[in-house]
Formats: sequence, structure tokens, C-alpha cells
Amino acid sequence: MPKALSLQPTHDAALIASFSKRLIQWHKQYGRHGMPWQGITDPYAVWVSEIMLQQTQVATVLDRYPKMMQRFPSVAHLARADIDEVLAEWSGLGYYSRARNLHACAKQVVSQYQGQFPPDPLALESLSGIGRSTAGAIAAFALQVRTPILDANVKRVLARLFGIGGALQEKKVTDSLWHLATELLPRSPKDMPLYTQALMDFGATWCTAKQPVCLTQNTQCPFESSCQAKAHDQVLAIPKKLPKKKSPQFSCAVGILAHGNAVLLQKRPTKAIWGGLWSLPEGQWQGQTEGESRPTVQADTLTSEQLLELILPNRFSKKPPSLFRQSVRMGNRVKHIFSHRVLQIQVYEMVLNGKAKKELDSSMQSDEAQFIWAELGTLEQYGLAQPIRLLLESWSQAHGAAESDRCANASPIVLKNRP
Ligand code: ADE
Repeated sequence: MPKALSLQPTHDAALIASFSKRLIQWHKQYGRHGMPWQGITDPYAVWVSEIMLQQTQVATVLDRYPKMMQRFPSVAHLARADIDEVLAEWSGLGYYSRARNLHACAKQVVSQYQGQFPPDPLALESLSGIGRSTAGAIAAFALQVRTPILDANVKRVLARLFGIGGALQEKKVTDSLWHLATELLPRSPKDMPLYTQALMDFGATWCTAKQPVCLTQNTQCPFESSCQAKAHDQVLAIPKKLPKKKSPQFSCAVGILAHGNAVLLQKRPTKAIWGGLWSLPEGQWQGQTEGESRPTVQADTLTSEQLLELILPNRFSKKPPSLFRQSVRMGNRVKHIFSHRVLQIQVYEMVLNGKAKKELDSSMQSDEAQFIWAELGTLEQYGLAQPIRLLLESWSQAHGAAESDRCANASPIVLKNRP
């Protein structure tokens, strides 16, 4: 176990002076090379890669980045696109505010900067979704500007090397890290792309949070002899971690309302979780205590009217229509963990005949373009929240099987009950 922190931050002039050279040397042998976002000078292409790489594994970005660039080859293409197209292209990458910001930023670059990204990191930082470190990365990679980055990995590297023991949430700690990051920059602007990449790679692959090479392998870290954390046996204790707050737990009901090969989708409000994405009709979120996982309402006691009331609250001027002989079944229970909350989703399924669908369509109140009956085979076109996409894929397989059984045996549809 790491000991309590006792070390003082150092100002190691020799380390500061030699850092960038030693890091670039390290990168030659151990860094990432040949990535499609490396060696490019188009700020648009760099920006897209940086936003994608923020919370997504490199392996995933390797697959998705070329597709994104093909679909939106320039900032003008992206600015002109409909937000639904952007969200659909982003589907599965999570943290959808990144896609909404990407679209908003492209519009700002076109309207405020004549389609050219500004080279000044401060101006870049004023654009939607670009923080100080990302602004630094874009300026350094695309335009060789001598400006630092400071993402979570880099913070960890610098805190360990220079023995900065405070929590990263403290302003004075991040201020001193930014100061250090600036002091460490290579002299020559032309080294900025390589240096910045090397710093990212070193933090992501060698000086990692849980298994830094200095503690796990025989490989020698190039900075080991100057590292304050290593010298004081504090590598895992830095950066200092604050106690984690428990994530609040919620539950909600969602409905798969199906007619033939189509399901009813609902567009989520822009400011909510999964904002602007298509999802299934969904009831109110209920807070629940940890460990509790009972469904909001038991399906065997639920009528079609009650289900509609549950998943489409306030959508009917009087009360929901009584959909004669449409029965409700309980489907999967899905747990989705967001970055700071946990949602238990209880799925209910109802297959509607033509008359019931008509009744539902005519009695439901909705703003334009808020609901759509989407064919299961065309779901790719929609920006769908990932858990909902997975849910519909597995449901659609079961539904397809049930449909083909029905055709073969002329028996009623029986969907598998998956408690
Ligand atoms: N994370 C953010 N930007 C990155 C980059 N350019 N290379 C690897 N990981 C990154």
C-alpha cells in the first residue's frame, strides 16, 4: 500500500531542461506511430480526432475516425449536416454531448471564422466543446504552436515526476501543473507535434494510473531516476484521490411498442441525457436505493392503458386509449451505468395490431418529429442511444424468430419472457 504523502514538490531544473528531448527519444522506440490522425496539418481533421479520442479507446477511434472523415470531409460539410446525421455517425461512441458540440463548433467556425480554425489556443478554447487542453493539442499538432496540453494522463505524469501531492480537483494544483507543462515545452515549435503525441502516449501506456511500468515490468522508465513519486515510493498514491461519491441510482420503464416490423421511437430532449438521440418511449425516472432492482410495475398486472400511461406520460389529452386485446409482456431488465449515475431500465413489450396502432397514433399528442415508427431494418440510420440500440437488436432477433414461427405455424406471436 502506498504510504501517506510526505513529499514536497520539487523544481528540478535539470529534468525541466532535458524533459522534451528525453520524451521524444522515448517515443521513437515506444510511442504510437502510423495513426491516421498523426502527421496532419488540417486543424479540422486534428480537431475531429481529438474530440473522438477524448473518451474513446484508440482501437475504436481507428475504426470510426476514417468513417467520420469520409462522411464529413470538411468543416463546411459538418456545419451543413443535420444534427441527426452527426448523431447517427457518432452512434455507439457515447458521451453524445461531444457530437452536439462538434456540430455547434463547426457552425461557429463557418460563421465566425470563415471556415478556418483560428490558430490562437485562446480563440480555439472559446469554441463549443473545446477545452484548454484540447485547444493546446489542436494548435500544437496542426499548427506547431508552442502551447501545452494537460489532460488527465499528463496531469498524472507531471504530478508524479515533480512530486505534486495535492488532489487534481484543487485549483492551485492544476495551476501549478499548467505552469510546469509550459516550462517543459520543447524550444523549437517544429517539435511540438511529436512532443505532444509523445506526452499523450507516455501517460496512456507507460505512466498509467494502476500499472505504471516502473512497478510492473523490467523496462526502465526514462525518468525513473528523477521521479519524485518513485523516489518516495508514492507512485500509486499520486495523484491524490478524493473519496468517490456513490452514484445515485434510478429506475425507469421503457416500452417497445411494435407494429409489424416497426417500433415506436421518441426523440429525447436536447438538454437531457442522450440529448437529441432517438430512444424508446420512457417513463419518469424514479430514485431508488442501492441493490433494489424490482421493476417499477409488475407486467402481469399491467393493462395496455396503464403501460401507455407509464411510458408516454402526459401524451394523451384525456386518458390513454384502451387498446383492445393488446397484451403487455415484461422484457429485459437492463442496467446502464452513466459516468455519475446508474439507471435500471425495465422493458415492457406490446405488439399492436393495425387497429390498435391507428388508435394510438390518433390519440397521442406530440410535437412534430418527436415520434417515429421506425422499421427494425433501418435503425442504423437513427442516432440511437447505445443501450437502446443493443436492446432493440436483441429484441428484434427474438421478434424475428417469433414472426417466422408464426408464419410457419399460424400460431399467435409469443415473445420470450426474459425476467
Ligand atoms: N488522446 C487524445 N488525443 C490523443 C492522440 N492524439 N493520440 C492518442 N491518444 C489521444
